[in-house]
Amino acid sequence: PVKTGYGQAPVNIALSKYWGKRDVALNLPTNGSLSISLPELGTETRLSWHETGPDKITLNNEEMAPEAPFVKRLSRFLNFFRPDANGGFDVETLNTVPTAAGLASSASGYAALVKALDDCFQWQLAPRELSLLARLGSGSASRSLYDGFALWHKGERADGLDSYAEKIDQTWPEFCIGLLEIDTSTKPIGSTQGMQQTVNHCELYQAWPEKAEQDLATIHRAILDKDFQTLGATAENNALAMHATMIATWPPILYWQPESVAAMHRVWQLRQEGVTVYFTMDAGPNLKLLFLETETPALMRALPEMKCLKPFA
Ligand code: DP6
Repeated sequence: PVKTGYGQAPVNIALSKYWGKRDVALNLPTNGSLSISLPELGTETRLSWHETGPDKITLNNEEMAPEAPFVKRLSRFLNFFRPDANGGFDVETLNTVPTAAGLASSASGYAALVKALDDCFQWQLAPRELSLLARLGSGSASRSLYDGFALWHKGERADGLDSYAEKIDQTWPEFCIGLLEIDTSTKPIGSTQGMQQTVNHCELYQAWPEKAEQDLATIHRAILDKDFQTLGATAENNALAMHATMIATWPPILYWQPESVAAMHRVWQLRQEGVTVYFTMDAGPNLKLLFLETETPALMRALPEMKCLKPFA
């Protein structure tokens, strides 16, 4: 007898970032984080459980080699859920976003996978419990269980049972995200390894957890108040502070390309000219712009290559 399941989940962009773990095995973060989901981009996963193994993983219609790091990480995650050790999962994953290009495909990937498992084994878990399980696959996946804004609580417990994300009750139809794709090839160092290196080899990192919690609270408040300028300025500063800890690590981690820096200057120049636009960046060279709908025409004129997404459309 074969059991099957289906799940899908959106990509999310952190406005206040997760960078650093207090427990590496359980993906327990040093600080809380807050994100916005992009329903137009994400992952769809079909899964089946067979009584004889091994696992078979297909990504974007291509079967992956068993020794690929992507497959090893996935199979290790699936070990949490195997009804018996001899069985195997057949996982078919389709991404509508380039894998590992700093667009958080692991987030939508593990969130979709957990939903597919829930469907396959008929657990009927609540979103908060699914968020907790997705976190075990990739920290940022905890936030991809929801549309709109999500807040991942860092939690205090050693077992991580209080470290899950919740939806923030606010819709903001005018809210836009602009993608400025600088380079979509695979990044030199993944976020899992990058944050470990920062935690262990960066003196500036000591200042990060407290700042991150303050930014999180400021952005949360700004969302509830629909105070866009506070949200944008705090999110941009939070991303730059995170990148400052990466740069100050030894050996240094610099995800920026010359074109990333040029794009930052462009955003600052546009702000000087009166356009209300901010940016955020993750573990990659691409920029994600934050703005309200009223600024779309000015931005499309200035940056015709920008892809405009509407999280609440
Ligand atoms: C810079 O969730 O990819 O995008 O938990 O090791 O899988 P793991 O890390 P991951 O880290 C994301 C880091 C970030 C910031 C963020 O999304 O909050």
